[in-house]
Amino acid sequence: MWDDGRLCHGGDYNPEQWPAATWREDVALMRQARVNLVTVGVFAWSRLEPAPGRYEFGWLDEVLDLLHDGGIRVALATPTASPPPWFSQAHPDSLPVTADGVRLHHGSRDTYCAAAPAYRAAARGIAATLAARYAHHPAVAMWHVHNEYGTTCHCPHAEAAFRRWLTARHGDLHTLNAAWATSFWSQHYADWAHISTPRATQYLANPGHLLDFRRFWSDTLLAAYVEQRDLLKAVNPAIPVTTNYVLGDWVPVDHARWASEVDLVAVDHYPSAVDGGAEEQTALAADLARGWARHGAPERAGRPATWLLMESAANQIHTAGRMHTKEPGRMARHSLSHVARGSRGAMFFQWRAPLGGAERFHSALVPHAGPDSRVFRESVRLGETLDRLAEATAGEVAAPVALAWDAASGWALRHPGMPSDLPDQHDELAAAHRALWRTGYGCDVVLPGDPLDRYRLLVLPALYLASDATVDWVRDHVEAGGHLLVTYLSGVADPHARVRPGGYPGAFRDVLGIRVEEFHPLAADEQVLLSDGGTGRIWSETVHLTGAEASCAYVGGVLDGRPAVTRHRYGAGTAWYLSTRPDDDTYRRLVTEAARAAGVHPVCPDAPPGVEAVRRQGPEASWLFLLNHTDRPQRVPVTGVELLTGTVVATAVTVPAGGVAVVREDPDGR
Ligand code: GAL
Repeated sequence: MWDDGRLCHGGDYNPEQWPAATWREDVALMRQARVNLVTVGVFAWSRLEPAPGRYEFGWLDEVLDLLHDGGIRVALATPTASPPPWFSQAHPDSLPVTADGVRLHHGSRDTYCAAAPAYRAAARGIAATLAARYAHHPAVAMWHVHNEYGTTCHCPHAEAAFRRWLTARHGDLHTLNAAWATSFWSQHYADWAHISTPRATQYLANPGHLLDFRRFWSDTLLAAYVEQRDLLKAVNPAIPVTTNYVLGDWVPVDHARWASEVDLVAVDHYPSAVDGGAEEQTALAADLARGWARHGAPERAGRPATWLLMESAANQIHTAGRMHTKEPGRMARHSLSHVARGSRGAMFFQWRAPLGGAERFHSALVPHAGPDSRVFRESVRLGETLDRLAEATAGEVAAPVALAWDAASGWALRHPGMPSDLPDQHDELAAAHRALWRTGYGCDVVLPGDPLDRYRLLVLPALYLASDATVDWVRDHVEAGGHLLVTYLSGVADPHARVRPGGYPGAFRDVLGIRVEEFHPLAADEQVLLSDGGTGRIWSETVHLTGAEASCAYVGGVLDGRPAVTRHRYGAGTAWYLSTRPDDDTYRRLVTEAARAAGVHPVCPDAPPGVEAVRRQGPEASWLFLLNHTDRPQRVPVTGVELLTGTVVATAVTVPAGGVAVVREDPDGR
């Protein structure tokens, strides 16, 4: 079973790219690094089924036996993210078509349409064949279905499936026409057969049409996953099944909705920023993963949210067309940022760097330089570290601040007909999270409608779409004494992306005590001055107070003297509104003000700047993870036992420069 109490260490293992002699060395090196879980076969379809119905399992049999003998568990993948060349030749109608009608060809990966019947049948076929052969193999601890579901397509199969999905969603054309506001530009549909996928258009496409297309693909890909999962489970229900989600600003499917269909939320995370940005992105990614995991079936049954960092980079951060080498210690800090936030381990893409193929220069635990390398030595140390931290899995992050996330709001905000192309939900989420992270407040990610009783402060970062139920959810929270921080472009539209009338933000005017009359989007290099000395970027608005007070105003320009940030007592709580994106210092001041009003405290108020603190709280103990992102040793007052060194901490722990300390806290010391 994958969950044997240890934290997982390992990653994608591609033995099909290496001769058998290397497999033996791999297993020996894996044991040295205390690797205990590897994903095998993710892109191995053409080596498993070199011709239709002709299978070559000998190599995989041998690899699984070797791994098992070495005590290494396997997440066995179904290889359906990369059909073999013969499949594309035999089923050209399964090749994906882009929005402008170009049919893509074999030669990369993910070259299929997940709505094409032949592809789906072939995917079921290889999954069922693998299940029949390996579902009872003792090495197999988990099924890893596919890889990063996220493709779309505009082929005739996709179009037919889209129409079926629309019929199920809207029921009749009258409802669809109303939802998509098709009276605009003569788009009224009188026949389902007239509806195509949102292909390339002369000018702006219909926002409702685009949004439903995204939802359709999320559901279609989920159905493709579910049918594989069911085949695997049918053979051995005891083996958990999952699929790895992508994490970052690419949100191809509604990951939170998928959580209830996986036995374990598994995520891939690759930061795209270098300096402090990588640490902030990592913290946000892990908080998101934990938030999604809370929607999983085990969690709904009352068990702690369980998730796993399935892929990360052992070394490089890829940013702006360049690979940046991670400094010593950084890989471990990123890994432990995930573990601190609930990940059941730290896994990597990939075990051994390939010598050829498109990703030959992607980092690996065993780099091209071989095991006599800094990266391999760091991975050995990480293996030791993870073993020492296994006890912390008994703890859960208990954050007092909730950040709302909604995939559809992000999709809707990317419509090109918005008043500005600068605002982006992921970016707003990241800005709010960064302000909280830098001030040391722990936060959870929630979905609209989630229970809020454990949270004192709810933040809505560009929650653009709001249903009536979401309006009630937010109002009830504040009325009952909860605190709320809302950013611009929240609650502007309904779930079909139609504007809520009467002044923005239609959904939250009452609770915020404001009415926004006009938007004043800013140019990319423009700033507005604020009366508290700060600045705003990206956006500004004409805000009228209808009960709220201004906590700061715009200075100069057309909005001179008008409210920029407002505060409103509502019921027993308080609601803040940000009509612009404050600079980082101002944002930190604002979240601190809101957090203090809400009675929320930083995780470790005495942690020096640059030291990230995350607490996992268990029924009988708590574990304080301290990640020192500075280049100097840092002292943090705490008492307990430091697990990596096994030393008793009487008053304070010194966290090495760029290093980590994890303290099992003395319950009387807190
Ligand atoms: C992931 C993917 C891996 C590999 C990796 C490179 O998104 O699942 O197969 O391509 O990116 O960073």
